[in-house]
Amino acid sequence: MKLVCAKDYEDASYIAAKNIYTQMIKKADSVLGLATGSSPVGVYKQLIKWYKIGDLDFSDVTTINLDEYRGINRTDEQSYYFFMQRNLFKHVNIKPSNTYIPNGMEEDCQKACNDYDAIIKKVGRIDLQLLGLGENGHIGFNEPSEAFTGKTHCVDLADSTLLANARFFKSLKDVPKQAYTLGVESIMMAKKIIVIVSGEKKADILKKVLYGPITPLIPASILQVHPDVVIVADEAARSAL
Ligand code: F6R
Repeated sequence: MKLVCAKDYEDASYIAAKNIYTQMIKKADSVLGLATGSSPVGVYKQLIKWYKIGDLDFSDVTTINLDEYRGINRTDEQSYYFFMQRNLFKHVNIKPSNTYIPNGMEEDCQKACNDYDAIIKKVGRIDLQLLGLGENGHIGFNEPSEAFTGKTHCVDLADSTLLANARFFKSLKDVPKQAYTLGVESIMMAKKIIVIVSGEKKADILKKVLYGPITPLIPASILQVHPDVVIVADEAARSAL
């Protein structure tokens, strides 16, 4: 794993965005694995800036999002579908048919996961996966558990995740309790992984992810054995190192 030291969130976003920029310049039809939440918002803003001045072209890019809440409609502002439209897709020339997010409205868990895995298989290996880091060490919505997960699955969100994400909802009880997420195995299949880590709240977990044992109790610790991971962390996130 390579740790890149950024000054603050803005700097971290710029560095992570530069990695995506390089990927897209090298391969116009890149498959990008994308995340939601606070961490990637600055990255998407920077990519939009480069698109608007003509430096980036999304017309051949395909995107696979990590996760979606279960039971939430695409038109719901809290859905990750809505998040991606608002923060990236509607601002660039990506083809809607090339953007994929698990179907949160599919009630049949097995079908939702199988459908998404079929898409991942069809699209091919993710060239670059962008990740945020959960305060409990999750990646995607792979919560701390007894074993590392494989492919797309339905997950009961950990209490710590519900609490951390309550800030996006009216109240804690409005946070969906379940989500569909890419499994750890699928994330690890990506050729390159960029993790953006910002803020003091992530400091303790970042230390464990970088220097602790590899354990499914801290899902992101598995990244230690991926051949090409760049962790971009700002000063606050590095404060416990
Ligand atoms: C989002 C996702 C999550 C977040 C993580 C950090 O698609 O998969 O793993 O990346 O919960 O969230 P933020 O960035 O809001 O701190």
